[in-house]
Amino acid sequence: MDLSYKVTNLFPSSIHRLGINNFNDYKNKLVEETYQEKNEDPKGRKISNRGGWQSDQIEIRQCKSETLKKIIIDSLSNFEPISEKVSMFVEGWKNINEPGNFNVRHNHPRSDLSGVLWIKTPKNSGNIVFTSPDFFNRYQEIDSYTDEFKYNSNSYISYYFIPKEGHILIFPSFLEHEVEINKSDEDRISYSFNIKLIHEK
Ligand SMILES: [Fe+2]
Repeated sequence: MDLSYKVTNLFPSSIHRLGINNFNDYKNKLVEETYQEKNEDPKGRKISNRGGWQSDQIEIRQCKSETLKKIIIDSLSNFEPISEKVSMFVEGWKNINEPGNFNVRHNHPRSDLSGVLWIKTPKNSGNIVFTSPDFFNRYQEIDSYTDEFKYNSNSYISYYFIPKEGHILIFPSFLEHEVEINKSDEDRISYSFNIKLIHEK
């Protein structure tokens, strides 16, 4: 028989990645400011983190760190996929995961997009792992595809990204994710944020 085959992969969950090419100009300052903030508020808050420290959530324009403010505002102003008619309300918090710490699986309610800036991520300090929203409903189907099809269509039950300093990952806030245990012997430092998308008239 003479058959043809074509596939259209619909309804993607887009994970965006921005790279700050001159991040080395900012890294040390950001690390220093994060420890300074931890010293001022050693207790921090507990959300998805198991161990470690997490700062309070504040709007980016109120952020005391001019460096962080510049990085996030500049990056999001140049975030090409979002229409010019849409403005963003951004709130974020800093994270320090010490060796042995991790973040349990969670999502970010009351937010449209969420993101993370990797500031200091030693080798083996914990990948971010996303779980498919179809984990249960489509397990058998996805598990039945060939490895080649899975790879070509990004059909996975879960998928991880290895953190890279100076990179920002932006993803839909509903997507469940976790941060693996920090198996390095140094702290893992990141800045997480939530974006509310506001449609102007
Ligand atoms: Fe998160």
